[in-house]
Amino acid sequence: MGKDVIVACDFASKAQTLEFLDQFTDRKPFVKIGMELFYAEGPDIVREIKARGHKIFLDLKLHDIPNTVKSAMAVLTGLGVDIINVHAAGTKRMMEAALKGLTRPDGTRPLLIAVTQLTSTDQQAMEEDLWIDKPLPEVVMHYAKCAEDAGLDGVVCSPLEAKAVHETCGAQFLTVTPGVRFAESAAGDQKRIMTPQQAKIEGCDYIVVGRPITRAEDPVAAYERCCREFIG
Ligand code: C5P
Repeated sequence: MGKDVIVACDFASKAQTLEFLDQFTDRKPFVKIGMELFYAEGPDIVREIKARGHKIFLDLKLHDIPNTVKSAMAVLTGLGVDIINVHAAGTKRMMEAALKGLTRPDGTRPLLIAVTQLTSTDQQAMEEDLWIDKPLPEVVMHYAKCAEDAGLDGVVCSPLEAKAVHETCGAQFLTVTPGVRFAESAAGDQKRIMTPQQAKIEGCDYIVVGRPITRAEDPVAAYERCCREFIG
């Protein structure tokens, strides 16, 4: 898989999601399904969107004991998604177990990436709540290295961290980056943002874009613009 724009379908129902996706007649976007939609509609929503020809990133951020994560991944791998994720904080053993669970009898599996530190966690919360007494950028790089050591394919990170992750873990290690906004649009609750063009320069492999596309007056035009700016 090469560089691509992943559209975050943060909708509460199947009806809203399919109404949104129906607008894309020429090019079928790579779609991210998160907890809200998955918990509302169950695995059938994944099957339905996949049957419509979309690639899927299933963003459920698993984090539990290794055996439970392995068993859950063995179920989820049957959905045939393209990318799936876990929290790196679950430890290397948990990430290795996730990989085992994901691998099908024929040796194929979805790409597995790890969330390092959520972008909603800042230095203060990390120190006071998690009792991690190290600079946040170092923690992110350490978690990325742990994910690489466990055999994962990449991480979810801020576009600002993509270059450093590639320097630490290699150019082939995937960086999947939310926090993308068009130059003139509102940031919303995203703090550390970049345009699709800047994300391309930083070497991000995939950008995850939600509201700039889902809430645009013309979502198809916004998606096409994102692709032009990021992929070229
Ligand atoms: O609407 P927006 O472009 O901000 O959507 C970004 C998407 O990426 C959302 O689905 C959000 O949950 C997700 N995400 C994020 N930051 C992370 C991990 C995931 O914004 N660190």
